[in-house]
Amino acid sequence: MIEKEAFHDHNPLAYMRLYELNPDGFLVVEKDGIVIGFVVGILISKNTGRVLSIAVANEYRRSGVATQLMDEVLKLFTESGVKSIRLEVRRSNIGAQQFYQRLGFMVEGVVPQYYSNGEDAIVMVKKLGKRS
Ligand SMILES: CC(C)(COP(=O)(O)OP(=O)(O)OC[C@H]1O[C@@H](n2cnc3c(N)ncnc32)[C@H](O)[C@@H]1OP(=O)(O)O)[C@@H](O)C(=O)NCCC(=O)NCCS
Repeated sequence: MIEKEAFHDHNPLAYMRLYELNPDGFLVVEKDGIVIGFVVGILISKNTGRVLSIAVANEYRRSGVATQLMDEVLKLFTESGVKSIRLEVRRSNIGAQQFYQRLGFMVEGVVPQYYSNGEDAIVMVKKLGKRS
């Protein structure tokens, strides 16, 4: 439901498959037993992690839920020896870009027409080091 509310491309089967393949990287925050946010992180190589998706239910945004999710996924990646984390975000999604920038992600490039509606993706990367 959160994914449906947050994204244009709603694909619950893809999320089930991701969960089956990668249960450790699929994290949620619950409030009173209800899921209010999730993140999906996967290892794409020994040194590189990728955040595939993150979303928080509308009414719980701007209260630190996504920061909590990213902190946990960054912790998991660090424990796995990951050196950098990458993600794609829609060019129009300025709020999410600001969120990632605040967490130390920097713009690495653009993938033209990455999304099914033809929108470009901004690729953002965070290096994990001693001070991360
Ligand atoms: C992007 C998203 C996950 C952020 O979740 P959140 O729980 O609201 O984020 P947080 O409360 O942890 O935000 C931490 C900080 O990030 C920045 N930030 C978060 N959302 C922002 C927004 N919409 N606009 C500008 N800055 C934002 C702010 O600096 C915020 O701190 P503040 O609230 O004290 O100003 C949420 O807006 C969401 O689910 N959006 C729809 C799905 C989406 O776009 N996902 C990313 C796809 S790549």
